[in-house]
Amino acid sequence: MKISIIVAKAKNNVIGKDNQLIWKLSSDLRLFKKLTTGHHIIMGRKTYDSVGKPLPNRTSIVITRNRDLKLPEGHFVFHSFEDAIQLCISKKIEQLYIIGGAEIYRQALPLCDELIVTEVDAYPQGDVFFPEIDPNKWQEISRERFQRDEKNEYDFDFVIYKRNDQL
Ligand SMILES: NC(=O)c1ccc[n+]([C@@H]2O[C@H](COP(=O)([O-])OP(=O)(O)OC[C@H]3O[C@@H](n4cnc5c(N)ncnc54)[C@H](OP(=O)(O)O)[C@@H]3O)[C@@H](O)[C@H]2O)c1
Repeated sequence: MKISIIVAKAKNNVIGKDNQLIWKLSSDLRLFKKLTTGHHIIMGRKTYDSVGKPLPNRTSIVITRNRDLKLPEGHFVFHSFEDAIQLCISKKIEQLYIIGGAEIYRQALPLCDELIVTEVDAYPQGDVFFPEIDPNKWQEISRERFQRDEKNEYDFDFVIYKRNDQL
């Protein structure tokens, strides 16, 4: 099973504030939708709350310590990150996306094969951060530039990193 983190982070690694995203980047949302549609996506409970419902045409897996949280049919709640991964292994899923937030990224980073990172040209204030990407562990394999326009608040790069020991 290939595990990919997908994240949009600012130059200062900020990824959110007050449990919200902090930019309007339509092109990035389009890339996110294209990649994740039809796949299983794992997220923390706070990210699930900020979205408010399962994203259409994807299987959502939400991690929480709350034993009462229920999701609509076809989606899953787990009480540990490891149990969520075990479900995906047992379902023989080929591609899994980890979609945040910061707490879940930190737990997923040692396990994942690929980082799909939207690097936003901004230094916003925020309260959640993506960990520093260690160049000894991760190698950039592609980078595509997107320019700011009326639907995209900032310039950004869409970058893919692979784990060094898998190259
Ligand atoms: N820029 C991006 O690409 C991006 C993507 C996603 C999210 N975000 C932003 O990130 C922020 C949310 O991130 P966050 O770090 O605050 O929260 P989070 O990672 O989304 O969720 C944290 C919650 O997940 C549960 N959890 C985490 N680890 C667990 C474990 N090992 N076992 C059981 N439950 C566990 C807990 O839920 P309970 O408290 O219910 O127990 C915890 O409070 C928001 O601002 C959001 O907008 C940004």
